[in-house]
Amino acid sequence: MSELTELYKEIQVCQKCILSQGRNHTVPGEGPEDAHIMFIGEGPGFHEDRQGRPFVGAAGNYLNELLGRIGLKREDVYITNIVKCRPPGNRAPQPEEIQACRPYLDKQIDLIRPRLVVTLGRFSMQRYFPNASISRIHGQPKRVGSVIYYPMFHPAAALHQPRWRPLVEEDILKIPDLLAKLEEIKEKEPEPPQAQQLSLF
Ligand code: URA
Ligand code: SF4
Repeated sequence: MSELTELYKEIQVCQKCILSQGRNHTVPGEGPEDAHIMFIGEGPGFHEDRQGRPFVGAAGNYLNELLGRIGLKREDVYITNIVKCRPPGNRAPQPEEIQACRPYLDKQIDLIRPRLVVTLGRFSMQRYFPNASISRIHGQPKRVGSVIYYPMFHPAAALHQPRWRPLVEEDILKIPDLLAKLEEIKEKEPEPPQAQQLSLF
């Protein structure tokens, strides 16, 4: 069994926070173990909790569509969330829940070692840019070593706020350039990057 599969099993029985009480399924994340791109969302919603898979509801359909616009398939990327169990009524994850769940995300990053980390929404942005405002920094890549961190609005927010949609679409269209840049970085630094566990700024 791969270490990632072992981690999924561990998450499946986790009771480290109160979100364990209302869940139907844990939603650890999915995608290739050697993915170069990792998307980090907020937390499972209704459909994700039913199916145990990330981004399978309306926000997921929109994310798939956005990926399609830049020639990526969902299967090409790794997709996960800040918390692995659904917050009741889709409320925001609380700081103690994010904290309790954090070691799982740390481990995923350690195992996958992505070169491009795309944060979707405020909660995953805060992991890397703790005091930033998403309306100010969305769409601005930050390179640290051989990893690029790229904050975007959450696709669900864009679905609810039509005025954010063009911003999300503009931001996703910048990803091919970031990937080209990463190819250059990779030629110079062929080793996959070490995970950045601490917030950066
Ligand atoms: N929104 C998220 O942040 N994550 C999901 O998995 C689904 C919707
Ligand atoms: Fe465990 Fe994370 Fe689920 Fe909380 S949200 S019970 S920490 S897996």
